[in-house]
Amino acid sequence: MMYSLLRKALFIADPETAHGLALEGLRLGHEIGATSLLCSNISQPVTVMGLEFPNPVGMAAGMDKNGDYIDALGSVGFGFVEIGTTTPRPQSGNPKPRIFRIEEANAMINRLGFNNKGVDYLVEKANKHRFQGILGINIGKNFDTPNDRAADDYLVCLEKVYAHADYITINISSPNTKGLRDLQDTEQLDKLLAALNTRRLELADEHQQRVPLVVKVAPDLVDEDIAGIAESVVRNEFDGVIATNTTISRSAVKGLPHADEPGGLSGTPLKDMANHVLAALRDALPKEVSLIGTGGITSGADAAEKIQLGADLVQFYTGFVYKGPDLVKDCLTAIRKQKTT
Ligand SMILES: Cc1cc2nc3c(=O)[nH]c(=O)nc-3n(C[C@H](O)[C@H](O)[C@H](O)COP(=O)(O)O)c2cc1C
Repeated sequence: MMYSLLRKALFIADPETAHGLALEGLRLGHEIGATSLLCSNISQPVTVMGLEFPNPVGMAAGMDKNGDYIDALGSVGFGFVEIGTTTPRPQSGNPKPRIFRIEEANAMINRLGFNNKGVDYLVEKANKHRFQGILGINIGKNFDTPNDRAADDYLVCLEKVYAHADYITINISSPNTKGLRDLQDTEQLDKLLAALNTRRLELADEHQQRVPLVVKVAPDLVDEDIAGIAESVVRNEFDGVIATNTTISRSAVKGLPHADEPGGLSGTPLKDMANHVLAALRDALPKEVSLIGTGGITSGADAAEKIQLGADLVQFYTGFVYKGPDLVKDCLTAIRKQKTT
C-alpha cells in the first residue's frame, strides 16, 4: 500500500531520475533503520554452489551497478545482492533517454550500455559493505574492446573482484553492448569460459578460496544454443547459470507505448521466454550445476514457478520497480509454501 503511493510519486520523474531517487531514498531509509522494519522473517536458508544463502531471493544485476547501495538493498531482506555489471574502465553508456517504462505490462526497456564507474571503484565499495547475505559481482567488457580481446577484459575484472565476491557472474548476454551476445556462440564461449576457469583455479590457490563462477545468458536462444551453452558450462567447471537477461523480442508488447524503443525488455512480458530457457537448462545440466531464475518475477507465484522449473535461487529487478520491497517477502512466502506442499 505504502509503496504504491511512493511509486506514483516516483513515476512522475523519468525512469533514470526515479531510479537514482529511489536508491538514495532506500539508503536514507537504511541509515535511519526504517528499511529493516520491512523485512521480518527473511530467514529461509539454502546452500547453493557451496554458499549459505540466508534466503533464495536476490536483487538482480544492474540496479546497483557500482556497489553504492549493497547495504541498503540488503536491508530490505534479500538473501543475495548482485552488483555490476562492472567493466575494466569506467564508461558513460548510451545517450539518454535510455530507460523506458511500459506500465501497462509491468515492463521496462533499457539500453543503458554498461554505464559504470569501473571495476576499481566497485571493488572499493564491495570492500566496505556490511550486508550479511551473499554478494555476487557481475563482470563485463568495455564497449570498445573487440570480441577477440573480450577475455582480457573479463580476466582483468575477475582478478580484481575475486577477493571481494561470494560468486562472480560472467555477463555475455546484455543486448546493449554491440556483439556481446555473440560470445554465447559455442566456440567463442568455450574459449572464454576456459580462460576464466583456468585463472579461477590459480586464484583459488592464491586465495585459498574457490569462488563460484556463473554465466548469465539471454532469453533469445534456440534449443540448440542452449545445448551448446550447457556443454560448455560443464566442460569448463562453471558452478551455475543465470537465466535470463533482458530480451530483444517485442512480440509480447506489440502496440504498447515505447515498445519500439531499441534495448532489452524486462518484466512480465519476458517471463515465459526466461522460463523456457530455465527449464531447458535444467534438463540439459547435471544437478550439480546451479540455476538462478531471473526474468519477469512480479509476484510470489512467479518466483515459486521458477523454483518449480528447477531454479535453486531467484532474482528480480523490474518487479522491484513495480512492486517495491514487499515483493521479497511475497516471494519467500510463496516459495516456502510450495516447498511444504
Ligand atoms: C535498467 C536495467 C539495467 C540492467 N542492467 C544490467 C546489468 O548491468 N547487467 C546484467 O547482467 N543485467 C542487467 N539487467 C538485467 C536484469 O539483471 C535482469 O536479468 C532482467 O531485467 C530480467 O529480470 P526482471 O524481469 O526481473 O527485470 C538490467 C535490467 C534493467 C531493467
